[in-house]
Amino acid sequence: MLNTPPLSNLQTRDIESVLHPYTPLHKLNTTGTLVISHGKGVHVYDTQGRGYIEGMSGLWCAGLGFGDEELIDAATEQLRSLPYYHLFGAKGTESAIELAEKLKEIAPVPISKVFFTSSGSEANDTQVKLAWYMNNALGRPNKKKIISRMKAYHGVTIMSASLTGLPYNHIGWDLPVDRVLHTDCPHYYRFGQDGESEADFVRRMAQSLRDLIEREGPDTIAAMIAEPVMGAGGVIVPPRGYYKAIQEVLDEHDIMMIDDEVINGFGRTGNWWGSQTLGMTPKTISAAKQLTAAYAPLGAVMVPEDVYQAYVDHSAEIGTFGHGFTYGGHPLGCALGVKAIEIYQKRDIVGHVRTLSPHFEARMKKLNDHPLVGETRYCGLVGGVELVADKKTRRPFDPKQAVGAQLVKFLEGHGAILRALGDTIAFCPPMVITEAELNELFDRFEKALADTEALVSKEGLRAAA
Ligand SMILES: Cc1ncc(COP(=O)(O)O)c(C=O)c1O
Repeated sequence: MLNTPPLSNLQTRDIESVLHPYTPLHKLNTTGTLVISHGKGVHVYDTQGRGYIEGMSGLWCAGLGFGDEELIDAATEQLRSLPYYHLFGAKGTESAIELAEKLKEIAPVPISKVFFTSSGSEANDTQVKLAWYMNNALGRPNKKKIISRMKAYHGVTIMSASLTGLPYNHIGWDLPVDRVLHTDCPHYYRFGQDGESEADFVRRMAQSLRDLIEREGPDTIAAMIAEPVMGAGGVIVPPRGYYKAIQEVLDEHDIMMIDDEVINGFGRTGNWWGSQTLGMTPKTISAAKQLTAAYAPLGAVMVPEDVYQAYVDHSAEIGTFGHGFTYGGHPLGCALGVKAIEIYQKRDIVGHVRTLSPHFEARMKKLNDHPLVGETRYCGLVGGVELVADKKTRRPFDPKQAVGAQLVKFLEGHGAILRALGDTIAFCPPMVITEAELNELFDRFEKALADTEALVSKEGLRAAA
């Protein structure tokens, strides 16, 4: 529906050679791609020299923005001294040791060991394998199913995509695999019933979880995995008391909580960990993304001593601990992880997020008056704006109209990048953003919202499908 300029040479080469993730491939020849060449602070620049405020920290990960000289120096130093080594067969590296120690120091619950991966998906895949391995070691071979939630996002490998609760990660991919269960999504605005209070909604969520567990048999369920604030499913902040209520149900049935901190971790929600902000009590933790401020790929799984001891016992029985990735614990990623945590600490990034979040919240709330906005959701410096066709009835737009995608395209024209998760527009700016830059991001967003409203009215997109 938008007029698109002819594709540049780089865009044409891009389309001809690169298979783009999470992209409507059938439209690429008309939409083209946005080829980014460099970044500085909260801005990135395309190959035509146009600048954009990166309001999503890339993919919720570049929390310290772009071109941070301290991180670049740490990377250079590491590459000079040891560009690669691994942790297999009882080998170690200084950077992996140091990062594991740092993670233990800042973890929200006592952690004994850290297992490194290259990504968040690998971390969650590892979590499932470890839960199975542990229960085999504990003589509970049937306790293997994992509960996740509708609209959860845990990655794209076969198991983590199965844990993910989004249709486009399952349809056409022969997923989810078995042993994965999905319970309700704790999104009150969308799934609260008429006249139901938030407290009643929480009770219903907990009851529904209990029903699922009892139906399947508690002895068949190893763990539940949850992101404290749900990210890619639409930035969903569960109501107060939700985690306490579901934790009680899990505890009753000896089911452990796997905390997916891949987006939430390292200050994003105004605490080091989303579990601290949302009142969740994890048994094990997955981290990635802001772990290295996204300057290199790295993921981590953190486990407590009793869980670790089960691996030790099983390893004694089998002869080894048969799991590991060539690049898990890559020295570059680990050195950057150490430096990123040091920066979060010395620049008091958590404090900065807390200082800015009331302003973020105020700018979000102001959007609620707009005719296109059904709900705004926010926590720390992560938020979502849900667009609806009918504010009163909360009726969504027909997904085929791709209204959210149109908005982010308009926004690019105004010099900012956000991400459309269906018709929820996600905000996750670098945590180092200033108040002035945040205002500029929202001002540009408001312009894109006005463009979208004009388009919706002109094309009659509000009509019920
Ligand atoms: C909560 C969560 N878990 C896991 C993942 C998967 O991480 P990766 O893309 O590094 O595999 C993501 C990615 O967005 C995520 O948001």
